[in-house]
Amino acid sequence: MSDAINIGSVDDIDEGEAKVIPAEENGTGEDIAVFHAEDGNFYALDDTCTHETASLADGWIEGAEVECPVHSARFCLKTGEALCMPATIAARTHKVEVRDGDVLLYPNVPAEA
Ligand code: FES
Repeated sequence: MSDAINIGSVDDIDEGEAKVIPAEENGTGEDIAVFHAEDGNFYALDDTCTHETASLADGWIEGAEVECPVHSARFCLKTGEALCMPATIAARTHKVEVRDGDVLLYPNVPAEA
């Protein structure tokens, strides 16, 4: 199991917003987007849309889903599942935990769906 990265306080990411943890910081080779969803929870997916190359962190969060800003594919923030065209491939999830008011990201550890 990989070590957690403390990406800051829960207050650093407003609800409905996301923060990108660059590949060189998270060690996975891919940028990771950490989302503060409207259900109050935090979720993490690989930031690059599986359809082309858009940043999902720049997309729109609705409920526990994110909509890609370029062609509007939607992904489940909990499972990474691609919910509509044009994306057909799931986004990779990463475990996120909130502890003592801080957001901890576990790169390469799949989220428990
Ligand atoms: S780049 Fe995301 S849907 Fe096309």
